Amino acid sequence: MSPFRDNLFAGKSAFIAGGTSGINLGIAIRLAELGAKVTVCGRDEDKARRAAATIGNGALGLSADVRDYEIVRSAMVQAHDTHGALDIVISGAAGNFLAPALAMSANAFATVVDIDLNGTFNVFRGSHDLLNTPGASLIAITAGQAVNAMALQSHACAAKAGINQLVRVLALEWGPDVRVNGISPGPIADTEGMKRLAPDPATRAAHEARIAMKRWGTARDVAESAVFLCSDAAAYVTGTILDCDGGSQVGDASRLDMSRGLA
Ligand code: HXC
Ligand code: NAP
Repeated sequence: MSPFRDNLFAGKSAFIAGGTSGINLGIAIRLAELGAKVTVCGRDEDKARRAAATIGNGALGLSADVRDYEIVRSAMVQAHDTHGALDIVISGAAGNFLAPALAMSANAFATVVDIDLNGTFNVFRGSHDLLNTPGASLIAITAGQAVNAMALQSHACAAKAGINQLVRVLALEWGPDVRVNGISPGPIADTEGMKRLAPDPATRAAHEARIAMKRWGTARDVAESAVFLCSDAAAYVTGTILDCDGGSQVGDASRLDMSRGLA
């Protein structure tokens, strides 16, 4: 049962980069359910069109690569001209694969940094004069890799760490009219990301055991965090990273022996 009222975002315009699948699509669906007019973009045009049909409420699905400033800027201009000045901008496009640094070419490393970090700069920078201010809310989708070093993830760790600092700097520069925050999801079920990071049942079980809440999250869990950050309930929240991860960042719950010290 969601605590948010049904028309919370009626009259609002939202742009979600990478909103054509997975977690970001879940956010797009939830914002539209709450009344927002949503535009999503990804590289694949058909996938974007299908996503828009799934989102409903007049959603636009556009093809745009966040690595190209002019192209993603033009998608945001189209969103602005169709649905009005942007109240909500979410930067969630990402690429990832498991590989040791020594198995990555310079281009392999740069590709992930370009999508995740440079893409987030492009989306936020390109949106600025299209925002409905004061009150616009920007959210970057980051990850625990930003603060926890993970083997086989040098590209994503570096890119997501950069995103966390970008969020803080833009919050400083763009306050008080624009709030800039991040959401750091834990392992989220039924996503491309977890298919790549935990491809077999043993790895999935190990991931789950480490989490305080003892379950993987859902796209809906992350969407509700996004709703909070975009709502007036978060009017004084900027420059923060909200962990929506069942306690994953707190520590490893698989090693706890709760019987110790008990009578
Ligand atoms: C080593 C690899 C590789 C691998 C690709 N490359 N896969 N190197 N091991 N497994 C290298 C290529 O050889 C190439 O380098 C360079 O990376 C670019 O590859 P391209 O295929 O040309 O790039 P592109 O078509 O732009 O595709 C980007 C991609 C791809 C990141 C490689 O996987 C993608 O499109 N991903 C989007 C979907 C996704 O990843 N979803 C999960 C995000 S969730 P050379 O030198 O040969 O040219 C997520 C997980 C959770 O991020 C959170 C963690 C942060
Ligand atoms: P996903 O389904 O693969 O979503 C990635 C989205 O980004 C897709 O819409 C994809 O569409 C788009 N995209 C990729 N490269 C792009 C580019 N260059 N330009 C524009 N769009 C691009 O992934 P997900 O697993 O749901 O992850 C979504 C976000 O959550 C990512 O930021 C990820 O790092 C973060 N995250 C995920 C998890 C998890 O458990 N899955 C955990 C922590 C953080 P196209 O392929 O058509 O371009």
